[in-house]
Amino acid sequence: MRLEVGITGKTFKSAAGGTHEVLAPMKFSLQSGEVGVLIGPSGCGKSTMLRIILGLDRDFEGHVARPPEARIGMVFQEPRLLPWRSVEQNVRLAAPDVTDAKLSELFKILELEAHRSHFPGELSLGLARRVALARAFAVEPDLLVLDEPLASLDDALAGRLRDEIATLVASRSVMTLLVTHSLDDAIRLGDRLFFLSPRPAHIVQAVPISIPRAERNEAELARIRAELAALQLESK
Ligand SMILES: Nc1ncnc2c1ncn2[C@@H]1O[C@H](COP(=O)(O)OP(=O)(O)OP(=O)(O)O)[C@@H](O)[C@H]1O
Ligand SMILES: [Mg+2]
Repeated sequence: MRLEVGITGKTFKSAAGGTHEVLAPMKFSLQSGEVGVLIGPSGCGKSTMLRIILGLDRDFEGHVARPPEARIGMVFQEPRLLPWRSVEQNVRLAAPDVTDAKLSELFKILELEAHRSHFPGELSLGLARRVALARAFAVEPDLLVLDEPLASLDDALAGRLRDEIATLVASRSVMTLLVTHSLDDAIRLGDRLFFLSPRPAHIVQAVPISIPRAERNEAELARIRAELAALQLESK
């Protein structure tokens, strides 16, 4: 499976009638098992790009080729849960085929067991984000799109979830596209880092990380950090 992105432009029309150029030409592809990371300043167009890639916004120039049969798991920047459904129902609605065992495993990993029957209005933002992650994982996706999924989680939990994302990617050859402001998440998870310019976003530099994820110990991570620092790329 392969995702091909060839965007040549995206503009929004403002209410006042002006145009607002959000994406400049950019091109990249991802294959199964690969994690692409998008890093760029706030407002540069990352979430807009993800919506285009998912087919939720068709008003753009260029083309995106998604594998037609791919199952898609998505974590939006805001958790977007159905307020009138419980945590468990929110996940089951997105993943009707999920087994009880799989659901229990996910809730355990994401530390949501005590919240199964709670409603979104009763959750903190961090909990709601975890439900959104459970929902994305439960569909057993081929294409996983994550828009800052670890924001507002404490460091320890964010670290555990980052490991879970890595395990999922390794076990099922998922194609993953991750937006993050954390260079640390990027170098622990990514196979290729795409550093974006301010709006209109284009790829300033694509940096491959060739060391397998499982072999990235603290010494390797420090080396990668130093290499990136030498490239003088902005991390946010
Ligand atoms: N529906 C819309 N109509 C008009 N302008 C929009 C719309 N959605 C986004 N924009 C504008 O497009 C630009 C890019 O927004 P986007 O949400 O893609 O940024 P982002 O890179 O995801 O930022 P952040 O890191 O803060 O999430 C911003 O200037 C935003 O105001
Ligand atoms: Mg965004």
